[in-house]
Amino acid sequence: MLTQQQLKQQAADAALEFVEQVAAPDVVIGVGTGSTADLFIDGLARFAGRIRGTVASSERSAQRLASHGLTVLDLNDVESMPLYIDGADEIDANLHMIKGGGGALTREKIVASVAERFICIADESKLVERMGAFALPIEVIPMAREAVARRLAALGGQPRLREGFITDNGNIILDIAGLSITDAAGLEARVNNMPGVVTCGLFALPGADVALLATQNGIRRLTR
Ligand code: A5P
Repeated sequence: MLTQQQLKQQAADAALEFVEQVAAPDVVIGVGTGSTADLFIDGLARFAGRIRGTVASSERSAQRLASHGLTVLDLNDVESMPLYIDGADEIDANLHMIKGGGGALTREKIVASVAERFICIADESKLVERMGAFALPIEVIPMAREAVARRLAALGGQPRLREGFITDNGNIILDIAGLSITDAAGLEARVNNMPGVVTCGLFALPGADVALLATQNGIRRLTR
């Protein structure tokens, strides 16, 4: 019986095979945030010198990448990336995701938007029929905290401030419990439209292109 850590390692290793296919001196890889992304970063170390560099979705990942001798580029200096590799807190069969458990959702969404393909790496426990059991993280500009919380409560959720947490962008996170998400794309658009919301942790517009889900019997691959 493989542990969750071993399953995460399998998913990270599977993503490194995608990097192997595109590695070249001019190639930049987009890198996510979280415990699964950390394992991916550790494996990516062997590509130092074989790729131009990486773009990180958080200060935490940037530090880990740099500690392995990988170049961390400013997204403003990068026009395209073949791949963005990241974990998820929940993913459904449409490859829609909830992300932001680590609070890096905004930069994750920005970096992912520049990449040609989003490869989601996770253990199979992240695959759900309907998203929402994991409280949906929303990055909010501090002065809009209560105004946004009231709007989210009106949608049927129970917003809770993530205590003692400030994002890399200097904002707060509201975690919204109690949502049963039937229309992820619609909800993402609606929440993103609320004044004061920086980013909603739903990734459905678009979602992932490929999910590499580690199971006790190997990698289960889902494609959009
Ligand atoms: C970070 O903000 C999140 O979006 C992560 O991608 C997500 O929380 C998955 O993290 P783990 O790989 O640690 O489960």
